[in-house]
Amino acid sequence: MQGGGPVPRHCLREGVKIEGTAGTRLSLVDDAQTCDLGALTDAKAAAVLALQGEGATEDELGELVARHDSGAVAWMFFVLTRLAQLGFTQQTLTADGDRLATLQPTARNYQPGSGSAPAGQPVRLCRFAYLHRLDADMLLESPRALARIVLHHWHAAALVAQLMQPRAPERHAEAAAQLLSPATAEALLRLLYQNNFLDDSLGNSLAAETPATSELADGAKQALAQWEFHDLLFHARSRAGRHRDPYGASYRWERRHTPLPAVKEMPGDGIALPRPAAGDDPDRAPSLMTVVEQRRSLRLPGERPLTQQELGEFLFRTSRVRGRRRTEHEEVSNRPYPGGGADYELEIYPFVQRVTGLDAGRYYYDPLRHRLLRLGEADAGWQRLLKDAAIKAQMEQLPDVLFCLTGRFARLSYKYSSISYAVMLKDLGVLYQTYYLVATAMGLAPCAIGGGDADIFAAVTGLDYVVEPYVGEFMLSSRNVEEWARQAPPL
Ligand SMILES: Cc1cc2nc3c(=O)[nH]c(=O)nc-3n(C[C@H](O)[C@H](O)[C@H](O)COP(=O)(O)O)c2cc1C
Repeated sequence: MQGGGPVPRHCLREGVKIEGTAGTRLSLVDDAQTCDLGALTDAKAAAVLALQGEGATEDELGELVARHDSGAVAWMFFVLTRLAQLGFTQQTLTADGDRLATLQPTARNYQPGSGSAPAGQPVRLCRFAYLHRLDADMLLESPRALARIVLHHWHAAALVAQLMQPRAPERHAEAAAQLLSPATAEALLRLLYQNNFLDDSLGNSLAAETPATSELADGAKQALAQWEFHDLLFHARSRAGRHRDPYGASYRWERRHTPLPAVKEMPGDGIALPRPAAGDDPDRAPSLMTVVEQRRSLRLPGERPLTQQELGEFLFRTSRVRGRRRTEHEEVSNRPYPGGGADYELEIYPFVQRVTGLDAGRYYYDPLRHRLLRLGEADAGWQRLLKDAAIKAQMEQLPDVLFCLTGRFARLSYKYSSISYAVMLKDLGVLYQTYYLVATAMGLAPCAIGGGDADIFAAVTGLDYVVEPYVGEFMLSSRNVEEWARQAPPL
């Protein structure tokens, strides 16, 4: 991999075709979109056609156009940017005939970068950048970048790995000298710099944590410093914009997998839960506005235990299946709370600590038949989950019931691309609020919990960590009159 410096070549991405010939209208087409370039002059058409195969460097394209039509050079750069933004083209760096790296713009607001990292100033890899394998290549991505870089050669990946240390660009090139010529290392560093993969360390290790975007306002820099890697990655990949993956309802597993049923099938006789009487007792049904105003997180259990009647009414009003139907793709259901795609992937495992008429222990709520299936004793693992929830609520007393909430992930991933996990967390938020409002209207004590140990949960339930991940928990108790008096807003 030693030798002359590589030059990026603009070329068509895999699956992109040019339709038409010079002298007719030219269009770029892939399986999702078409870009009609219209009837082009011979010079312009020659530049577009030169993107086929190995493609051409910017200098070569400029010469091709300028030979016949010097006024078309600006047009050519405009078209190159536009085609890159639309995902039709990419740039490949080659060194000594080997493909080294390919830049693939991922965002519609991608702009080609310019310049190089300033000589003498330490740089290192942006803390949001990550490398992973893609077929026989390595892929370098970052939620801060508007493009991704495919690394075709391990020498290029080695240079990226070396960027964990802040060094001046020329020192990085020297350190990689056994693998890459200085010009090759320089070209690769330029590609990384221009596409926001490098942090400018400003000469000290603390500053090395801040991004190289000196044009970022101080407020934005501070905000960025507070993002953790996984949060920004999750944001970038679960919203449209900085990736080209399929997005939304794609039914990508249809015909390859059987969709999960709308309601989880759990064997067992179960304990029928009480249902509320038809119609609302006006004395017990404050208006929605009152409930919203009164809603508070209440963490202390009351003097008396929650009753089985209350637990039954609560689950009936919040979580039961109201109906099922079959769509063209899958079976869906209808429940009191809204759910993404009507998929209703969330599952409810009440851990009963103190409920009159029910033995303490762990249960599964069957939302179709409105009953509890007993799963087992309140063993040590479950006690740990319960104590963990109490600690997160800064409580010494345990709640009457802890609802442990999982999601049958494949209900969502069967249908959705890019957004499945995000939808699951949104559904969880919706369920939390429904629980809060119904518990408040019923005069109970509700409190959401923000985090639990998914591994312990998987171990104690035997539910697989990825099949049915443990995503949330919610405490419910009888109301503690003193806490309510302290917390209730004046109405
Ligand atoms: C997603 C979510 C997670 C929460 N996690 C916790 C928690 O772990 N511990 C806790 O004591 N309260 C938790 N809460 C309750 C909040 O602390 C509470 O809603 C907030 O302080 C506002 O108070 P209020 O609910 O009484 O209006 C959570 C609430 C939500 C919506």
